[in-house]
Amino acid sequence: MFYVTTPIYYPNAPPHLGHAYTTIYADVLARYHRLIGDDTFFMTGNDEHGLKLQRAAEKKGIHPQQLVDEMEKIYRNYWRMLDISYDHFIRTTHDYHMEVVKHAISKLYDKGLIYKASYAGWYCADCEKYYSPGEYVEIDGKPYCPIHRKPLEFLEEETYYFKLSEFEDYMIKLLSGKDIVYPRSYALEVLNKIKAEGLRDVSIARPKERVWWGVEVPFDKNYTVYVWFDALLNYISGIGYLRDMERFNKYWSSVHHVIGKDILWFHTAIWFSVLKALEIEPPRKLIVHAFLLNRGLKMGKSAGNVIPIEALVERYHGSDGVRYILMRIFNHTKDVPVSNQLFDNIYNSELADNYGNLVRRIGVLVLKKLKGEVSGEDIDEELSRSITSTVEKYNKAMENYDVSTAINTVAELLRKANAYINNVKPWEKQEPRREMYSLIETLYAATTMLHPIIPGATSRVFKAFNTDLVNPKEIQPGMNDYYHVSEAPILFKKVKTR
Ligand code: MSP
Repeated sequence: MFYVTTPIYYPNAPPHLGHAYTTIYADVLARYHRLIGDDTFFMTGNDEHGLKLQRAAEKKGIHPQQLVDEMEKIYRNYWRMLDISYDHFIRTTHDYHMEVVKHAISKLYDKGLIYKASYAGWYCADCEKYYSPGEYVEIDGKPYCPIHRKPLEFLEEETYYFKLSEFEDYMIKLLSGKDIVYPRSYALEVLNKIKAEGLRDVSIARPKERVWWGVEVPFDKNYTVYVWFDALLNYISGIGYLRDMERFNKYWSSVHHVIGKDILWFHTAIWFSVLKALEIEPPRKLIVHAFLLNRGLKMGKSAGNVIPIEALVERYHGSDGVRYILMRIFNHTKDVPVSNQLFDNIYNSELADNYGNLVRRIGVLVLKKLKGEVSGEDIDEELSRSITSTVEKYNKAMENYDVSTAINTVAELLRKANAYINNVKPWEKQEPRREMYSLIETLYAATTMLHPIIPGATSRVFKAFNTDLVNPKEIQPGMNDYYHVSEAPILFKKVKTR
């Protein structure tokens, strides 16, 4: 069983490369787990309520519902463009989701975990979050959002609070004990914050006169539910919480949330406490990654430095190039600056040369020298050993959520195959049977392992070699005792470096 989620995105604008970074990563995990035979459920979707969306619609002069309906199509199109194999696209305006939100907030209310009081503080509508002194940055004596670098708004209102403070001991115990957060450094970061500042109660509702675009609070119709409380519940509503508890229990036990580090606090302090209050187990894993930077800043709409997804899909002739590049640079703890040069380099040297060109050369040689037929022989010993050790390292890395290491191990195997072909020079031999079998077996193993990352290109290779996927855990040298090669595809056209 493997249930994996992305954050649900604010559809006030189309997704950019930063959102693609998270979504492709989750997709790779989902595809890998399907291949190893796990019953897999992969969910992404949109976070459609709240002030940010209300304002975005206002600015366009349309109803928020119309905006989020239009944006759903746009998001789905982008995910199709990138070969994202989600099983469900969740929207927080779905009825079944809103039922869960109402149920959850009522349950907390009935348990005495919600109370009314007034609140005054500095708010960032882009984050949908209050910032306290010490958290915001000051520019010319005025408070600014540390993430968006925009002035904060001062808000003062009567609101409902969730007694987060009651969960302080629970959170400290949870974060210091169980290995939920990956990498662990993020758990320690949250732990230190809680130890330093304590867990403060959080406002969980908004007066309707200010934020009317949201789920109505069941026990007070003058309020809507705070968008973050609404949004986090998608992870349980999307797999049938309340409606189909059997299905919910089945998937929840294996839930893996993938998030960027910007929303770590919500996904630990708040989410784990809400789950506890609802008497639901904490997630199995919270997998956190760092940012893509552009011109020194986190890529984002407000910073004005986004790279559109379609620009890269076009440049690298489809989704595989973009997927490979982003997963190759994927980093859990370090922010990665993007650059054309870096992207072109990875694409040209690793995808086009190391992999694509090898596929082409092997295909052409088998067609020319062996009439397209390769049958089982003794495999070159060194390549055979490399296949075995790569498979082991690759699976270990994938199980540790370390996709970039998994890619690097496969790239290393491909480099060995390239060295081998240059060394044994099969084109100088009459019938290089053993050489070509050794090469095609190595390529078969590499192609299988790369499949979750570049599903399009690898599928073309399987088709050209008239063979099919296997469970990557079961790959071993000598997998197939016969290949019929019908084509030598050119997978990746090189790009001219700018
Ligand atoms: N709607 C909330 C999440 C609710 S989840 C219950 C939200 N949405 S968002 O549209 O702002 O998306 C945030 C996520 O997008 C980040 O956590 C991260 O996964 C991804 N990224 C957005 N910009 C990014 C970068 N520049 N770099 C890496 N990831 C980025 O927050």
